[in-house]
Amino acid sequence: MKSGDSKTYWNQIYSDKEVDKLGWHEENPEPSISLIKKCNINKNSTILNVGAGATTLVDELLKIGYKNLIAADISPISLDKLKKRINKPDSKKVTWIIDDLTNSQELIKLSPVDLWHDRAVLHFFTKKEDIKAYFNLLKKLVKKGGYLIIAVFNLDGASTCSGLPVCRYNDSMLEEMLGDDFKLIEAFDYNYTMPSGDTRKYIYTLFKSSK
Ligand SMILES: C[S@@+](CC[C@H](N)C(=O)[O-])C[C@H]1O[C@@H](n2cnc3c(N)ncnc32)[C@H](O)[C@@H]1O
Repeated sequence: MKSGDSKTYWNQIYSDKEVDKLGWHEENPEPSISLIKKCNINKNSTILNVGAGATTLVDELLKIGYKNLIAADISPISLDKLKKRINKPDSKKVTWIIDDLTNSQELIKLSPVDLWHDRAVLHFFTKKEDIKAYFNLLKKLVKKGGYLIIAVFNLDGASTCSGLPVCRYNDSMLEEMLGDDFKLIEAFDYNYTMPSGDTRKYIYTLFKSSK
């Protein structure tokens, strides 16, 4: 999908449904939090949440005391919903960026970050050039010694989501895409229960940059 089409598509989804009815909504983003705690990064560390949408992870990180968060998404409507939920003054601790991860114009300008977090975004990129652009951006933006969390549908996971085809992954496939500069620290499978009661099979991975 072209950037403009993708933005329209996701904006429509976020306009049509309440956030807590979305098929990826988490009341409690516990698997992400458990991996973030393992990174042992301090509260001033920069955490970049890519394809953040209206995730409750941002609320949780603010509660824990992180002060330097970036929420990025192609859909401004999703980020507006998140910003409204968080409210001032906490929303001022978050940098809000509208950008396409497969054709970055804004994120590319950032200084390297301590942690890149992606839940349920990478698997939507099915074209070779989009996947390549995503990993190139990630490699540029995660600082030396920084961390990377990617949570995507695993090889037993669904083949479509929100009406779109997805690419499924295991830890070795992600290792291969990341190359020698990232070391796998932990990976686990996780069955996520959607608001509808159906489940989706994810793999959660934590890597450390060793470049
Ligand atoms: C399934 S949702 C996951 C949202 C959030 N990470 C969570 O766990 O609740 C996928 C998100 O990726 C965003 N997205 C899709 N394609 C994107 C792209 N090319 N660049 C940036 N964000 C994108 C969508 O707008 C949507 O918010």
